[in-house]
Amino acid sequence: MNIILLGPPGAGKGTQASRLEAERGMVQLSTGDMLRAAVKASTPVGLQAKAVMEAGQLVSDEIVSGIIGERLDQPDTARGVIFDGYPRTAAQAESLDRLLAERGRTLDHVIELHVDEDALVERITGRFTCAQCGEGYHDKFKQPKVAGTCDVCGSSEFKRRADDNEETVRTRMAEYRAKTAPILPIYEARGLVQRVDGMADIAHVTAAIEDILGR
Ligand code: AP5
Ligand code: MG
Repeated sequence: MNIILLGPPGAGKGTQASRLEAERGMVQLSTGDMLRAAVKASTPVGLQAKAVMEAGQLVSDEIVSGIIGERLDQPDTARGVIFDGYPRTAAQAESLDRLLAERGRTLDHVIELHVDEDALVERITGRFTCAQCGEGYHDKFKQPKVAGTCDVCGSSEFKRRADDNEETVRTRMAEYRAKTAPILPIYEARGLVQRVDGMADIAHVTAAIEDILGR
């Protein structure tokens, strides 16, 4: 099964994708995570993407569809993929159709995480992750069980994203409204879209997605 999680910055795409990955053995493909890894490693893609990401704008369609195509050639993705943060433009949606068709795969669901944008700035500016294992946390909504220690790996090192400040979040939201929200009708016309209340607590959102996917 291949699904897209669609929603604005902070909607919970990454949180839900990693839960689905752990529970269903699907593979999370986050273009944001892949681009951040490329920036960290100073690859040619990373060098091109760094300033664009820090400004909250979208990286070029060619770059992101290129990295998704390469990733889909790795055999683990045959287990089923959760696209997290991709596609984000009409051109990327077309590329994804082609990339899947070339590999004999199909898209099964597009899940729209419906959220109140005013709440998202607080979600994003409070977010941090474990620097070792990547587990996600939040200053208010999901603190480590023991303060300063990762629940999963026990590390005491945490990090915050360079683009998680209020000004950049506003640009990211504007990009979402202008370029990403308009791709929903493409999938609605194919009967693929189901909407989930992304303002419910994290476990309820997971349960709603599980209901759609079938347990
Ligand atoms: P990307 O990394 O995809 O960022 P984003 O879309 O802005 O989304 P976020 O990762 O900020 O939010 P999320 O929905 O994953 O929320 P999360 O689960 O963490 O992209 C970053 C940049 O890379 C882009 O701006 C662009 O430059 C570039 N890029 C990436 N993909 C691209 C593409 N396809 N094309 C072009 N450019 C691309 O949750 C947020 C916080 O809220 C967490 O702390 C979490 O614990 C908490 N939380 C989650 N759910 C709940 C809940 N239900 N209740 C309370 N708190 C919650
Ligand atoms: Mg994310």
